[in-house]
Amino acid sequence: MSTLLHIDSSPLESSISRELTREFTKTWKTKNPSGKVIDRDLAAIAPKPIDQLWIGAAFTPEAARTPEQVAALSESDVLISELEQADEIVIGIAMHNFSVPSVLKLWIDQVVRSGKTFAYGASGPEGQLKDKRVTVAIASGGVYESGTPAASMDFVAPYIRSILGFIGITDVRFVTAAGASQIMMGAIDRETFLKPTLDQVRELAA
Ligand SMILES: Cc1cc2nc3c(=O)[nH]c(=O)nc-3n(C[C@H](O)[C@H](O)[C@H](O)COP(=O)(O)O)c2cc1C
Repeated sequence: MSTLLHIDSSPLESSISRELTREFTKTWKTKNPSGKVIDRDLAAIAPKPIDQLWIGAAFTPEAARTPEQVAALSESDVLISELEQADEIVIGIAMHNFSVPSVLKLWIDQVVRSGKTFAYGASGPEGQLKDKRVTVAIASGGVYESGTPAASMDFVAPYIRSILGFIGITDVRFVTAAGASQIMMGAIDRETFLKPTLDQVRELAA
């Protein structure tokens, strides 16, 4: 049975990235009627920041962990298990201050864990998650087209590609609804703005 992990990070109800991931999930469900969907809304329940206890626990061999250390890693265990179960993952990202929403960074800190999602091998760190496909839906107010000076301010797509690659996920597709500020300025209506990106998302989920 296929499993889709659906992650959202925008704090807004009217969020564009949420609309894109919702459409992805809807299409995926029609194609995989018996598939399982795991919803992980990071804005609704933000992961805890990692702290000294967490870091100490993560670098202590499993068998030697104290009950306190085991408890410190419990949220990480749940979030990693969701990733491990999924063969398909969709992540909605609102560009905030040229990067990812802070709740998504908290999630990343919880799931990038030595000995679990990456491990040190003979030639350095090796990602441990295999055979997963990720679709990343990004919404941004501005446009950061590659080859333009603005592209150097996009710390979302390059970071997400790198960090997912670090834990072994290399099949990553990006869908971007860029220039959303045009909606607020009244230059375009939301439906017209979103149509091409929604079409793209449906195609990728099919
Ligand atoms: C706190 C905040 C920070 C933002 N920072 C940026 C930014 O750095 N660059 C940009 O192009 N748009 C920025 N925006 C605009 C959002 O990226 C845009 O509204 C997008 O639609 C957000 O995704 P969402 O609709 O899924 O929430 C920002 C919006 C907010 C609320």
